[in-house]
Amino acid sequence: MEQQVQVNNQKQCVKRREVSVAGDEDNKLLQQLPWPTKRPCSRKLDNSGDFDTIQSVKGYCLSKNMPTDMYRPVAGQCGGSPGKFRLADLIGELHRVFAEDHVNVEYVQYLMESYHSDPAEWLKYAKFNKFRYTRNLVDAGNGKFNLMVLCWGEGNGSSIHNHPDSDCLMKVLAGQLTEVRFAWPSAPNTLDEQNGDNDEDLRPMHETGRALLEMDSVCHINDTMGLHRVENASHTDKAVSLHLYCPPFEECTTFNQHTGHKTKAKSTFWSIHGEKVSKKLKIVEDMPDDN
Ligand SMILES: [Fe+2]
Repeated sequence: MEQQVQVNNQKQCVKRREVSVAGDEDNKLLQQLPWPTKRPCSRKLDNSGDFDTIQSVKGYCLSKNMPTDMYRPVAGQCGGSPGKFRLADLIGELHRVFAEDHVNVEYVQYLMESYHSDPAEWLKYAKFNKFRYTRNLVDAGNGKFNLMVLCWGEGNGSSIHNHPDSDCLMKVLAGQLTEVRFAWPSAPNTLDEQNGDNDEDLRPMHETGRALLEMDSVCHINDTMGLHRVENASHTDKAVSLHLYCPPFEECTTFNQHTGHKTKAKSTFWSIHGEKVSKKLKIVEDMPDDN
């Protein structure tokens, strides 16, 4: 199978964004972090045999027969040391890939897996909030994709949500995250938005699987694969993840786990390129936390 995303017919210049290493303040933070610099990658699945399967969706076809050189990440092209695939290399390669008319999502997932988390490279984007998880834009991808760092405090979790017409690739950079998947609610709940709550139609969301994602694990989801919720179940450790959305989306649908009730939620950023967003723009209608 070959999975491709139609991006658009207009080719754009590849702009590579240099990612600075941590400064003195960041180095102090680094020393305080409880995270190991490297942790073996593992993924545990339950009650869903095809949880990892990349399924075909409209306009997509996925090939298992890609030439092997497509799988070779380009290390050191953005100033990184030879042999090490740095965050700057990942961003540069993403720009190159997304400048094409079609993007192979399987290759993009491979790129995400090829980058091994180095806190010194992403710490400038890791801005926490003590009340909820934050979304921090790293690179807007010329409008083709959004790359962002999400920061999860102890016990933080997202709501159940979809990814409208978009592929989401999520990589754990630090700590552990639990991804819980759900089936789309059955038909009656689709009327909630127009008709308001109707107790007779409300029914709990059906969980289809869950995975414990450790450092450097990558998962992939789109709307044909179901819905999900992401949570940091730890009460003692923070977690950080790297998310790629292609194409970007500004609004998604969230679901109440107990009733299936749908709500539209706008996606906003806590910081952009390492700079916190003005208070006036913050989470006025941001994606709600777990429900
Ligand atoms: Fe998501």
